[in-house]
Amino acid sequence: EKGGYDHFMIKEILEQPSTIFDCLRGRLETQNPSIQLSGIDKYKEQFLTGQRIIILACGTSWHAGLVAEYIIEELCRIPVEVEYASEFRYRNPVVHSGDIIVAISQSGETADTIVAIDQAKKNGAIIMGVVNAVGSTIARLSDTGVYTHSGPEIGVASTKAFTGQVTVLILVALKVALEKGTITKERFNQLCIELAGVPDKVQEIFVQNDHINKIAQKYSHLKDALYLGRGYNFPIALEGALKLKEISYIHAEGYPAAEMKHGPIALVDESLLSVFIATKDPYYEKIISNIQEIKARKGMVLAIVSKGDTMISGIADDIIEIPEIDELIAPILNVIPLQLLSYYIGVAKGFDVDKPRNLAKSVTVE
Ligand code: M6R
Repeated sequence: EKGGYDHFMIKEILEQPSTIFDCLRGRLETQNPSIQLSGIDKYKEQFLTGQRIIILACGTSWHAGLVAEYIIEELCRIPVEVEYASEFRYRNPVVHSGDIIVAISQSGETADTIVAIDQAKKNGAIIMGVVNAVGSTIARLSDTGVYTHSGPEIGVASTKAFTGQVTVLILVALKVALEKGTITKERFNQLCIELAGVPDKVQEIFVQNDHINKIAQKYSHLKDALYLGRGYNFPIALEGALKLKEISYIHAEGYPAAEMKHGPIALVDESLLSVFIATKDPYYEKIISNIQEIKARKGMVLAIVSKGDTMISGIADDIIEIPEIDELIAPILNVIPLQLLSYYIGVAKGFDVDKPRNLAKSVTVE
């Protein structure tokens, strides 16, 4: 059932070119670019007139929600709030009739997310599920939805479900933005074509697996790590840090790179690793100066960079290359080496990466 792999986690990481392809199949048309999502068509009016979107989720799914916040606000100009379902359910939140709630869940069985959407529904909100497990509780409670089609995810650490969630949320954002007229047809076409290229580009990253494994061996003794990114890649920093904690039992924290100066930089010395997501985007120059600040304090730096980057390779201790892609879609690619890094470190330390201690695949009690 592991298909010849040592662990479900690596099987599921390596499956991503095909799971992302399955997620796009029948939805994304690139000849004359268009997006079919019946789950959105049903509530088209509400999406076009909705005053705000509230995203509810936990853990890795919450990180997908944060990526979506940036993307939906940019493309659709609709304000988005992202809440931990566990907080939302207990704080008498302001929900208006007509608000759109997007519930993101791999399992569709997360207790806090179920209760949170139940409450929002009672207040007249429309619930759209972004769920992987077909027929699960959240899928059934939702008014409408878009499945991620990532297939069963067995490893406790969410990997392919996350890239499926981000892919679905980009499709939703693009479709709504085109209908609303908040994106030009030209930009829409361009992003559709870039999105269709994602499966091949994920495959291209895997050429570096041995290289990433070597980096993992080098850093397996770590005690602490910082993950830093900006813009669309800030949530990827959070997700990378969560993966490292879960699988390698190494303390890690994710921050927006600019927040470094507001506290975390105090931790930097020769024993701390900072993992930068530093692919080419409008923040590139700023990220370089953040890397220099870490190096000036003798910290170790691993950077995720765009293929062919020569600037950062001269400053960072180690780099992993990502194929060039539009910055809006880059988070899907950028998370892949971070999944691999935590996997290889976990394996190097002899841990049960499919079943990390103290964790359950789905948290069905609060
Ligand atoms: O099934 P869900 O997506 O609702 O689960 C949410 C979290 O419990 C889950 O993402 C958890 O954080 C994973 N262990 C992350 O790898």
